Amino acid sequence: MTDSHTKPVRKAVFPVAGLGTRFLPATKVMPKEMLPINDRPLIQHVFEEAREAGIEEFIFVTGRHKNMLEEHFDFQPELEETLESRGKHDMLEKIRDSEMGAGQLFLTRQPRPLGLGHAIWCAAKLIENEPFAVLLPDVLIQAPKGQGCLKQMVDVYGQNGGNVIAVEDVPKELTFKYGIVDTGGENAPAGSSGMAVKGLVEKPDPEKAPSTMSVIGRYILQPEVFDHLSAFETGAGGEIQLTDAMDKLIGKQPFTAMRFHGKSYDSGSRLGFIEANLAYGSEDDEIGEDVKRVICEMAAKLNKDSMNEAAE
Ligand code: UTP
Repeated sequence: MTDSHTKPVRKAVFPVAGLGTRFLPATKVMPKEMLPINDRPLIQHVFEEAREAGIEEFIFVTGRHKNMLEEHFDFQPELEETLESRGKHDMLEKIRDSEMGAGQLFLTRQPRPLGLGHAIWCAAKLIENEPFAVLLPDVLIQAPKGQGCLKQMVDVYGQNGGNVIAVEDVPKELTFKYGIVDTGGENAPAGSSGMAVKGLVEKPDPEKAPSTMSVIGRYILQPEVFDHLSAFETGAGGEIQLTDAMDKLIGKQPFTAMRFHGKSYDSGSRLGFIEANLAYGSEDDEIGEDVKRVICEMAAKLNKDSMNEAAE
């Protein structure tokens, strides 16, 4: 392992230039990454996960109609003054916690959404020659307090260096929807030092899938990935895929797949979004108990309705 593959991870890339077509018409003008889960937008959840993992520089790959994302992390003087004058100190704390300090936020544009790999390539000049994290804002990972998914990955990176990707098991019949890892049959639980990756396949048919472990949107990568992304080769779906460029690093650098403690939500899909809101809402200090009560009441009503239907 060379030294350059063990440098600390200080920078994170947040690709936010996609069109969010699964959420239309809600995302016709509003960025998908601004959809709220409980009391904060998706982008703030992943920002907090990155900050907790020790990230110092936050790089947004944005596109048209996405200015709201950078505004969200800016100082809002009128709002702060009003909260201060009304004595709403708890809320003021929350607002201040969502601000980025000077010199922390960096922006680059992806003129056309040509795929995740292309979005990451747009950040190459800002990353320079360092390892970096990538967090997909529409994937939320609810993890034990103080042990966010990226923090767990940074710990594994500290042991192995190189590249680390978070993986989660999916039903075998659904492998065609995900990037799937080949670990040569190795199967290590969360909390271990992970599994050596032998290959990555984008959206394989179930009969060809090398495992059921899917790549879920959290990566620690070495800058050499840009050498492969800059070829602009298109892969599955005609898009420039990050998975294809990562696959080319395997065998040349340490490459680890890590199962994490926690649960992921695909909040870029409508069902995942509702599920994430219920999950995060029910853990909220203020409204959690009420959310649980509402869920139980709805479940009881649905059960009663279906029993009545069956009896008719
Ligand atoms: P998705 O594929 O989930 O986002 O990409 P999307 O394309 O916006 O959504 P749908 O499928 O049309 O509903 C994951 C993340 O990568 C970003 C998206 O903004 C999202 O946060 N992305 C994707 C880019 O920044 N550029 C791209 O070319 C593609």
